[in-house]
Amino acid sequence: MSYTERADARKLQMQKTGEGYVLAIESSCDETAAAVADLKGNLFSSVVASSADLFVEYGGVVPEIASRKHMELLPHVVQKALGDAGIEKEDLSCIAGTMGPGLVGALLCGLSYAKAMAFALDVPFIGINHMEGHIAANQVENDMIYPHVCLTVSGGHTQLLLVKDATTFYQLGQTVDDAAGEAFDKAARALNLPYPGGPNVERLAREGNEDAFTFTRPKLKNKMDFSFSGIKTAVINLIHTAEQRGEELNRADVAASFQKAVVEMLLKNAFTACKEQGVTALAVCGGVAANGYLRQKAEAWANEAGITLYLPGRAMCTDNAAMIVRAAVNRIQKGEFMGLETNAIPSLKLQFMQAPLQESSKNTSENNTK
Ligand code: KG4
Ligand code: ZN
Repeated sequence: MSYTERADARKLQMQKTGEGYVLAIESSCDETAAAVADLKGNLFSSVVASSADLFVEYGGVVPEIASRKHMELLPHVVQKALGDAGIEKEDLSCIAGTMGPGLVGALLCGLSYAKAMAFALDVPFIGINHMEGHIAANQVENDMIYPHVCLTVSGGHTQLLLVKDATTFYQLGQTVDDAAGEAFDKAARALNLPYPGGPNVERLAREGNEDAFTFTRPKLKNKMDFSFSGIKTAVINLIHTAEQRGEELNRADVAASFQKAVVEMLLKNAFTACKEQGVTALAVCGGVAANGYLRQKAEAWANEAGITLYLPGRAMCTDNAAMIVRAAVNRIQKGEFMGLETNAIPSLKLQFMQAPLQESSKNTSENNTK
């Protein structure tokens, strides 16, 4: 019997019994992670080894170093995920791996490891879209209401989606330039803050006056889209102008005003989308969802609007494998698997259904104010 035949037999067994363990591996950037769940989505372990500290001196991730770290850490992280779940690798029924988007070398490390394990254990494999993983992060801790609006804010992506069920997405809006996390990272660099930028901007912003500076909100054709490059440039200009004039600039005030502008832009669209789509629940996910100011504002706005808010715990916002294994379970429950020819795709896109947009949300809007 070939690998394919043996893997097919395992698929049938999983479908018949509804039982089995899934291991997922995540390695799209600088976190090496593995997690184990059962076919109902119950999480048994989640291990994350971050190499972020290594990149402080470079001011950002160095892809080659990230790949080498993944190679070094993967066997230990996988072993610990199995140990924490109290199972042996022979107990696994399926292996999942993040196939994109991300750094190609980094992705290849985890994906190849996942495929090799699937082959060696004669179990089926499934490649997972990292952004679908972020969306699934809220499912790890909640029974979600469907449909809901989901705001995904990570280092590489900013998307506003209508989530009809765990694997059916409609795109309502996206960034037309920088992602929200990217804007935080670039603002951090301008403010002379070390990598990783987002958490450091948040820390500095706590000491500042959020109303010290006003940043103009961009006008966009699709009012559900986002644009952050203007605000980022405004921050850079503010700092350079002050330097040239030899003026003292309160960096904490800049950080706080920048953070307020970005968070208000994100939440304004997210809550408007809930209203327009007639849904009562909003999920926020991705690294920027770890931001305390965003979390606080989102909770306040949700209370005011009578919206159920889903926010993953902070550790579930940034990259981890618990969210990847949850996304894998969603696909496996639908009988979806992939062959071992599956490759890493650095710019992998999320698959959308045709958006059921209301006319009003397609029109050019006035300024983005709450
Ligand atoms: O989702 P994620 O861990 O990785 C990607 O898939 O991109 O997101 C990383 C991004 C980075 O841009 C980082 O600066 C941002 O999330 N981030 C934050 C915070 N924590 C992480 N941004 C603002 N405030 C934070 N506390
Ligand atoms: Zn991510």
